[in-house]
Amino acid sequence: MSEERNTELEAVAELAKRRGFFFQSSGAYGGVSGFFTYGPQGAALKRNLEDAWRDRFVTREGHMEISAPDVMPEPVFEASGHLDGFDDMIIECPECGESHRADHLVEDNSDVEDAEAIPIEEVQELIADLGLVCPACGTELAGEPVEEFNLMFETSIGPGSSQPGYLRPETAQGIFVEFPRLKEYARGQLPFGVAQIGNAYRNEISPRRALVRVREFTQAELEHFIDPEEDEPPIERVADVELPLYSAREQDKDDGELQQLTVEEALDEAVITSPWVAYYLGLATGWYERIGVDMSRFRYRQHLSGERAHYAADCWDAEAELGGDWIEITGFAYRSDYDLSKHGEYSGDDFTIFKQYDEPQTVERATVDPDMSVLGPEFGGAAADVREALQALAERDPDAFDADTVEVDVDGDTYTVDTDVANFSVEEVTQAGEHITPHVVEPSFGVGRLVYTVLTHAYGEDEVAGETRSYLSVPTELAPTFACVAPLVSNDADLVERAEDVLDRLRSAGFEVDYDESGSIGRRYRRQDEVGTPFCVTVDHETLEQEEYDAATVTLRDRDSTEQARVPVGDLVAILSELRAGETTFAELLSDPNVHRVA
Ligand code: ATP
Ligand code: GLY
Repeated sequence: MSEERNTELEAVAELAKRRGFFFQSSGAYGGVSGFFTYGPQGAALKRNLEDAWRDRFVTREGHMEISAPDVMPEPVFEASGHLDGFDDMIIECPECGESHRADHLVEDNSDVEDAEAIPIEEVQELIADLGLVCPACGTELAGEPVEEFNLMFETSIGPGSSQPGYLRPETAQGIFVEFPRLKEYARGQLPFGVAQIGNAYRNEISPRRALVRVREFTQAELEHFIDPEEDEPPIERVADVELPLYSAREQDKDDGELQQLTVEEALDEAVITSPWVAYYLGLATGWYERIGVDMSRFRYRQHLSGERAHYAADCWDAEAELGGDWIEITGFAYRSDYDLSKHGEYSGDDFTIFKQYDEPQTVERATVDPDMSVLGPEFGGAAADVREALQALAERDPDAFDADTVEVDVDGDTYTVDTDVANFSVEEVTQAGEHITPHVVEPSFGVGRLVYTVLTHAYGEDEVAGETRSYLSVPTELAPTFACVAPLVSNDADLVERAEDVLDRLRSAGFEVDYDESGSIGRRYRRQDEVGTPFCVTVDHETLEQEEYDAATVTLRDRDSTEQARVPVGDLVAILSELRAGETTFAELLSDPNVHRVA
């Protein structure tokens, strides 16, 4: 980590705590690793960021948004694969008992970039070969076992422990399990998207880097359900967007490098194979710029094959550089029909969509019509299940009925039936359509990591009037407070009264406005710069000198340039509205002949 970047992260962490962006929770009880509280500034910034996400990925795309519970019963995670496969590699220090993430120890102490993609035995060998020691107490870790550790938090639902539940490790499952209803709200038509902003929980082995790796965090996820054979994204909307791509192919080379390709080029050159994933990378690029991610510190990195989650057929991460390291801020996964098929299989509910053909089609259908007067006496209560199993076998493997007998499994028992008794036949049927299991494309954003990235990339220091000033140049849309109103001094009742009146006007117009009358005006400006407030409005003696109320002028100060203009109180709401909507800039305002620049 470069010294400069390290200092930047330290400055942001200090600012975050001092000014109320975020801090470790439950400090009065010593705090607990991996849990953070957003203070007043941070909660506002986070809310604005979520609104910007909703605007781009839900409203403008015409998708639905839902809000599902955080706790879900065990069968959900048996089906989703999280009970079996949602593990990280853990190694425990034999001396102090501290647990560490084994793949991270390797990454931190070698050139290996993605130790997560390496088999567990090799990670154990690497720890020995590299002579790695416990970061907490310095004891050698060679020979210590590296094991799988499931990241889900378990709880029990209701009194007693008969019904285990889990805190969802991704909001996505809350969407998948409701698919049988959601498809009705979408009138049974593909494609459609369902979004959710909510909390996810992972019992991370070693939480670190403030909001980057925590145990409770907010995700903003979109599950876009598509027919893989027919649906195509509106790629023309993003075809020319430039993407900084670090493909798996390039990562495998010794001198692999970032490729700067447009969405169209990336698809033509098969660097990205799924047009849906390419579409979302294109859409997200503009959004990252909008929320203030520094695009010179940003890239898309494709997962290596050993790194992909159990459900993902292809995956690209959006990564931002923080403190000299690349941090995943969003995962873009092609989840295929994995989740819906599993939930269909485990729940027995219908996770398919009926796809109507343009014209009815005549197809051959294998069917059985077993002689129940034989099956009944032979198999008793299992006879009906055997009939169903025979029908399923006929559809899956009609050739099985070529032999004299067929075998089917029901609840772990095997039943043998004479083919004559099964009455197998193939008939022609005319079908209006078929049931298909939709595929899923998923952009999954970590809101906390985005907040941290935006703050870090927005943080700056400069010199104003001979003093060092720190500021956050966050986009106006995200700023916790849009403007601050201040009387020039606080001991003049007329100034205070007029300032309070301006404050009321701005709040009534719907602006998020702070009021500050303590300390020198310069100090108040610094305070606002530090929390990213884009504009300050100051009522001074000149305001009071002007008789006509609306024509009286106040100063309007711009955070980034520190320039000031005198504008009439009566125009303030209109000017601020234009600045907020991005319809004008402060520089344009200053060039308006009716506006006076304050020297
Ligand atoms: P990592 O490899 O860094 O652990 P991941 O691959 O497990 O991340 P995903 O499972 O793809 O992450 O989760 C989607 C998004 O959720 C991530 O891009 C990230 O922004 C966020 N996220 C995941 N785990 C955490 C965490 N422990 N703390 C904060 N945000 C997280
Ligand atoms: N939904 C993607 C993940 O959290 O793993």
